[in-house]
Amino acid sequence: MAAQCAAAAVVSVREIAADSAAVLDRETGFTFSQHFAKYATDASRGIMFGVALPSNLTSFQPFDAVIQITAPVEVGWTGLAWGGRMTANPLTVAWANGNNVVISSRYTTQHTLPGSYTGASYVVMKTGTHVNRTHWQITAKCAGCTNFASSGGYTTYLSPRGNNNLAFAYAQARPSNPSSNTSSFPYHDVHGYWQHDFTSASNPTFETLVAKNL
Ligand code: HEM
Ligand SMILES: *[C@@H]1O[C@H](CO)[C@@H](O)[C@H](O)[C@H]1NC(C)=O
Ligand SMILES: *[C@@H]1O[C@H](CO)[C@@H](O)[C@H](O)[C@H]1NC(C)=O
Ligand SMILES: *[C@@H]1O[C@H](CO)[C@@H](O)[C@H](O)[C@H]1NC(C)=O
Repeated sequence: MAAQCAAAAVVSVREIAADSAAVLDRETGFTFSQHFAKYATDASRGIMFGVALPSNLTSFQPFDAVIQITAPVEVGWTGLAWGGRMTANPLTVAWANGNNVVISSRYTTQHTLPGSYTGASYVVMKTGTHVNRTHWQITAKCAGCTNFASSGGYTTYLSPRGNNNLAFAYAQARPSNPSSNTSSFPYHDVHGYWQHDFTSASNPTFETLVAKNL
């Protein structure tokens, strides 16, 4: 029943233009469906969230996704909510730690600091993960980000084609213990929602690209 509702919801938004665009990332070779999440009135300032997927996916099945986050160095932490809200869905949270970038798997049922989430796991790619003078970027394969338990014992599956409703949050303040993926971090300054097109995230050579970038 929940799956049916989820399917109906996806169909109803398909006619709405997605707020994402397909871009080939020359460094990693993945084609990402990217969304630029603005967090300031200055329109040039935002965080890029990219999703890359295998091409042979079936609806209502779990699937891996490569997530790429590119943030200006002023970003203390940012997070992607795969179910489009803060609570009861996998949260991918990331921040810079010196010359490294930390990725943290989180989940919460309340509007409080999300705890660790073992339902999703990440493999960070060497290529596509760096810190420079202006930005930090992380590229990682997630298993468990695109499906999660919903109420009543049902499972929600993101649609491998069409749009999914995603959300993000951002804070300028930094995590208290940045070298640890279980660090506490402060409340966000900004959050937002968008429709992310997963059709254009399809990569026929997904497995080859994952292996190449590890
Ligand atoms: C210390 C950590 C966090 C605290 C204390 C916190 C607290 C809150 C609070 C109090 C609200 C309600 C604001 C309102 O109703 O206007 C809220 C909303 C929201 N938060 Fe967080 N949050 C935290 C982390 C996160 C993370 C990691 C994400 C996403 C990755 C996130 C995404 C959102 C979103 C999308 C909303 C809008 C309402 C909703 O979807 O539930 N938050 N947060
Ligand atoms: C997609 O292809 C990969 C690699 O060939 C394979 O491991 C995977 O099981 C396939 N998935 C589906 C849903 O067919
Ligand atoms: C932190 O990293 C360890 C080692 O990679 C991993 O097992 C654990 O699940 C991660 N925890 C979080 C909250 O991401
Ligand atoms: C710094 O990293 C960002 C994000 O990957 C990239 O767009 C930019 O070109 C890099 N800057 C330099 C000087 O390499």
